[in-house]
Amino acid sequence: MAKVKESLAKRAKKPTVEVRSNEVRSNETSSNEARSNEEKLSRKAARGSGRDGAIETAQGKLGVMIPGMGAVATTFVAGVDVVRKGLAHPIGSLTQMGTIRLGKRTEGRSPKIKEFVSLAGLDDLVFTGWDIFEDNMYEAARNAGVLERDLLDKVKQRLGTIQPMKAVFDHNYVKRIDGPNIKKGKNKLDLAEQLRQDIRDFKKSSGADRLITIWCASTETFIDPSAAHQSVKAIEKAMKENDETIAPSMIYAYASLMEGVPFANGAPNLTVDIPAMRELAHEREIPICGKDFKTGQTLMKTVLAPAFKARLLGLSGWYSTNILGNRDGEVLDDPGSFKTKEESKLGALEHILQPALYPELYGNIFHKVRINYYPPRGDNKEGWDNIDIFGWLGYPMQIKVDFLCRDSILAAPIVLDLVLFLDLAQRAPELRRLGIQEWLSFYFKSPMTAPGLYPEHDLFIQLMKLKNTLRHLKGEELITHLGLEYYD
Ligand SMILES: NC(=O)c1ccc[n+]([C@@H]2O[C@H](COP(=O)([O-])OP(=O)(O)OC[C@H]3O[C@@H](n4cnc5c(N)ncnc54)[C@H](O)[C@@H]3O)[C@@H](O)[C@H]2O)c1
Repeated sequence: MAKVKESLAKRAKKPTVEVRSNEVRSNETSSNEARSNEEKLSRKAARGSGRDGAIETAQGKLGVMIPGMGAVATTFVAGVDVVRKGLAHPIGSLTQMGTIRLGKRTEGRSPKIKEFVSLAGLDDLVFTGWDIFEDNMYEAARNAGVLERDLLDKVKQRLGTIQPMKAVFDHNYVKRIDGPNIKKGKNKLDLAEQLRQDIRDFKKSSGADRLITIWCASTETFIDPSAAHQSVKAIEKAMKENDETIAPSMIYAYASLMEGVPFANGAPNLTVDIPAMRELAHEREIPICGKDFKTGQTLMKTVLAPAFKARLLGLSGWYSTNILGNRDGEVLDDPGSFKTKEESKLGALEHILQPALYPELYGNIFHKVRINYYPPRGDNKEGWDNIDIFGWLGYPMQIKVDFLCRDSILAAPIVLDLVLFLDLAQRAPELRRLGIQEWLSFYFKSPMTAPGLYPEHDLFIQLMKLKNTLRHLKGEELITHLGLEYYD
């Protein structure tokens, strides 16, 4: 054993980082921008350069601003308070419960992530939000019906004080709901100015040192990127002219970035996934990420599909259907909003299975996704998957998955992690100047990447990418799982 340790210690001095790992690979069509970012990171990784000195530590309060105070937002905020009071564990949260292995397997170093990097503590979080309804967070949580009344009453004092600010809303983008708590303005740029004022006011009144915005509002109707989305100049002109292709979520994102506040998008809307927002984020060095929290069915899909590919099992069909009865389900009952969700859910399989590389296995897949609004279930969604696979000599087999999940219970810890990691990214010069935070792909159904780079959907590659990013930031050796040195 002593010999192994000695040999490992010697090797630790040599660069053992594999630069062209799966973590940062580009496809043939990668743009120059994507390639040069990748090369920069790889070169630094090869040097094993630690950036810890450059990361500011998390001091003071972190203000969390949430457009959409519905089921997900209230389950998150109530949950943080429940955990703060010591009434439950933050289950599902990597930042709170996850560990990170450092160095060789023989070193026995696996600190908690929150002890390894400087993250805001739960006691430092302060919250606000916008909604089209006037209910405060306690009332909204009661209406959402996710957490039991007994538990909610234990955190009523804090939740009851969070009153929604007036929302920027356009019924054409979310057809199934309407509410009274809506801003009026002479044009969309004026509405953005009002949101910017809200942000400044909250920062002052809450005493927050830093802010994060995370979109937890309804899924907007499907739109393709338009000319108005191509640059900051174009989007500002379009907002002034009330261009109909500027969605409310884009107005929040614009306001947030203009105020220097990182933005995460939990819904499948385009929002920050357009050139104008990428430009703003890049120029101002503000982290952005999205889209669409990866919670139930897609989480399972991005676990199972990599297993089929790893074993070279073929796939002929994947039929996914869901029933859910919360307000999100009602909104998704509208064909325009459903299409936005459908696009986001469909992408994962193709990217994981790479049919162009494996035409015999994945060249002819029938992939269908349905979501059915079924009020009796409330937030307790049921997702069924029927998967038709084939093995040796083409013999068919089937897998059935029936996931009786709780949508917002799965989403809340994702919101917490994204808030804390985006804040870390904002304090880390090396990350914030990238704009897009691809290392947070782990949390999204449809992860944002640099233009020309295909997204990584495999949950375990995403986790490795996330943890290696943290190791890299702290100057720790990246973990490649090569492990030959243990047998010297
Ligand atoms: N729960 C999950 O597992 C999950 C997973 C992935 C994505 N999402 C997405 O997260 C979002 C929130 O889900 P939810 O279950 O909390 O939905 P919800 O319907 O309970 O809450 C959404 C809230 O947003 C408000 N809203 C709508 N448009 C708004 C606007 N322009 N400005 C401010 N508020 C606005 C609504 O009034 C509502 O209160 C949805 O877009 C959903 O698709 C949820």
